[in-house]
Amino acid sequence: MSILEKVAGLFSPREKTAVPAIKVDMHSHLIPGIDDGSKSMQQSISLITELKDIGYEKLITTPHIMQHRYPNSSRIILNGLKKLKEELQRQKIDIEIEAAAEYYLDDHLYDLLKKDDILTFGDNYLLFEMSYVMAPADLETIVFEMQCSGYKPVLAHPERFIHMHPDFNKYKALKERDVFFQVDINSLGGYYSKPVQKIAIRLTEEGMVDFIGTDTHHQRHIKALQNTLKSKNYIRLFEKNDILNNTLL
Ligand SMILES: [Fe+2]
Repeated sequence: MSILEKVAGLFSPREKTAVPAIKVDMHSHLIPGIDDGSKSMQQSISLITELKDIGYEKLITTPHIMQHRYPNSSRIILNGLKKLKEELQRQKIDIEIEAAAEYYLDDHLYDLLKKDDILTFGDNYLLFEMSYVMAPADLETIVFEMQCSGYKPVLAHPERFIHMHPDFNKYKALKERDVFFQVDINSLGGYYSKPVQKIAIRLTEEGMVDFIGTDTHHQRHIKALQNTLKSKNYIRLFEKNDILNNTLL
């Protein structure tokens, strides 16, 4: 029995909400050699096998697109996905895999929006991130641009942007603008830092989490995940939030 199956059906302590088996992961870096995630086809296959063993049935992998650091394009990502799928098929590993991207808020993102060259997942969801340390001046602008172009913005790991930590109202303001939040599961286990964990818990308690992601880059993330999936903080997510991952099946 997989970890997700074992956790599913458990009841969260206060309100007796059953935990569903989350079958879809929508944030990872599993296409080899194009960002800071998997470094080789062999590593990708082993990460995917481990995620499958945990209980995931579908992976929507999201390589970085960041103009000056990871100059990926839709074409590069979809080519990488094609090769990865061929290798999975060759090794008879049965798992559904798709690709979108994790878009960094930079000038290039505005160009891509204008050209309508965006890799989305599910119902036109667009996963994006920004600087961890400096608040971008144009966050509201880009959110508006995305929505005007028909996309549903999903902010990747809001709990990890330390410039937002001092003022929780910044999170509330984004939710008021219909930005979806994707929390990294490992943030809830304290993998990144105590302050990040604290914000992840607060977002959970305030019912502000829409998606959860493994954000898998390497084996250490999987190891941490195996522990976090059994934690009280993970179970609590389902008591306070409507998690949308399984709508992506
Ligand atoms: Fe990521």
